[in-house]
Amino acid sequence: GTPVVVAVDGPSGSGKSSVCRRVASRRGLAYLDTGAMYRAATWWCLEQGVDLDDGDAVAEAVRSMPLVVGVDPAGPTFHVDGTDVGEAIRGSAISTVVSRVATNLRARAELGDRQRHLIAVERDGGFSGGRGVVAEGRDITTVIAPDADVRLLLTASEEVRLARRATELHGQAGAAAVEATRDQVVRRDREDSTVVDFLTAADGVVTVDSSTLDLEETVEAVLAVVDEVL
Ligand code: C5P
Repeated sequence: GTPVVVAVDGPSGSGKSSVCRRVASRRGLAYLDTGAMYRAATWWCLEQGVDLDDGDAVAEAVRSMPLVVGVDPAGPTFHVDGTDVGEAIRGSAISTVVSRVATNLRARAELGDRQRHLIAVERDGGFSGGRGVVAEGRDITTVIAPDADVRLLLTASEEVRLARRATELHGQAGAAAVEATRDQVVRRDREDSTVVDFLTAADGVVTVDSSTLDLEETVEAVLAVVDEVL
């Protein structure tokens, strides 16, 4: 068949990654985690000793970053200059500063070019053999792939998103764990939303609210939309 591009945006804790990996896996599509590319870029800047307040230095470091992205939904991989950064980019050292890189417009342009290229590779062949790709992030439906076959905004109430991240980071969602998570979720979304709007659905973008859905139900809801174009 013809390749399909599925674009999914949403805030932190909306369940994007878990949902998109499963959707890609079940339909034989590649999975592109663009947030991980921003995280890898941040790791690289820190590794290179770049001052994150120096916009020129950040832009230059990102431009020359030797990043290799693996798009297998069963195990997405990220290597920078040969180092597997898959684990390191999930740590709070990265999460707390990643917005500084993501709000650098030249860094965004560079990573955006690479993301468009990775999507194009999957349309022509690539990991998916030309079946296509599920790409998720903050600006995929609007900036990176506005012409995608499926465009979704995955949302959830702030309360639910905080509880999910707290469980992910602390293994539970008690009051203290939720408070400890609030900065990472709420502040990061506020900073990120100064350069990209992922809190409201653009024209033609379908909203899936997962507040009252579990993971499997959310996957089913997204698959229902994807299957309309497959
Ligand atoms: O999705 P995840 O939480 O891993 O994204 C990490 C960060 O990458 C976000 O907080 C945001 O700063 C940035 N990002 C972005 N545009 C995207 C994807 C992620 O600015 N398309």
